[in-house]
Amino acid sequence: MRIGILCSRVRVEEKLLFAAFEGLGVPVVRLDERAIAARVGDYAPEADVILERSVSTSAGLIAAQLFEAAGVPVINTSATASVCADKVRTTLALAQAGVPQPRTAIALSPEAALQAIEQIGYPAVLKPPVGSWGRLLARVNDRDAAEAIIEHKEVLGGIGHHIYYVQEYIDKPARDIRAFVIGTETIAAIYRSSPHWITNTARGGHASNCPVTPEIADLCGRAARSVSGGAGGVLAIDLLEDAERGLLVCEVNHTMEFRNSIDTTGVNIPEHIARYVLDSVGERQHA
Ligand SMILES: Nc1ncnc2c1ncn2[C@@H]1O[C@H](COP(=O)(O)OP(=O)(O)O)[C@@H](O)[C@H]1O
Ligand SMILES: [Mg+2]
Repeated sequence: MRIGILCSRVRVEEKLLFAAFEGLGVPVVRLDERAIAARVGDYAPEADVILERSVSTSAGLIAAQLFEAAGVPVINTSATASVCADKVRTTLALAQAGVPQPRTAIALSPEAALQAIEQIGYPAVLKPPVGSWGRLLARVNDRDAAEAIIEHKEVLGGIGHHIYYVQEYIDKPARDIRAFVIGTETIAAIYRSSPHWITNTARGGHASNCPVTPEIADLCGRAARSVSGGAGGVLAIDLLEDAERGLLVCEVNHTMEFRNSIDTTGVNIPEHIARYVLDSVGERQHA
């Protein structure tokens, strides 16, 4: 069996994944997306299954589709990745499945964006539909700020910034929850605590263990199924604690980082991922 890991930059996570497969006695090949020159209809990647770990969302998505078109399954599937990579699509998938999330509005023009923000009410949160590490998120506290941010996005922003993803601000405790899902099972979770409302660890959030309660496991299972056509995947789910409504799903990530979460939770996340990839091959061979 040949396992491939797609990545150009080898982060701590990829090193841990290579080590996890080696620990299970399975050889792994590294596929670098920069080396792909795929002639359509005549492309055969050297692997039976590929774990997509590209740091580039767009390159990862294209590569996954090329692999799948060549008959090689990818984890996560390109269908799941394309939903998770786009906050609009994630929100629609969660809504379709009735998974609780912050109230969200989408607008496609500056005028409509202002209307959407006023409908949601202040403070509101604006997010680029594609992005991560808490980059370019804005908390908008009043109409003056809303007008200024919309104008900046319109004049200075790229194409993605002309799609307005507007969310109610959840007055969470000074933390959120990041849960790790393999398949549809939540294997670990951390609190990310920060004095700043953006709690990403890339932005200085501090990780501590969060016990996986039945509520977290149930909600994350539902969220994972909703973005993946039911099968789940290798996913990290951000949760916000609302005083009245309980847990809300903030977003679902498909090529998560986990370096700060292994010692914190005591769960060997890369080994779980490696076993999941191997099991997926076993299941297909028995099917
Ligand atoms: N609606 C919201 N209300 C309160 N805090 C939020 C809200 N949306 C995001 N946040 C905070 O910002 C962080 C980053 O938001 P997220 O949607 O996960 O974007 P990214 O893809 O950049 O991680 C979250 O982890 C959370 O701390
Ligand atoms: Mg996030």
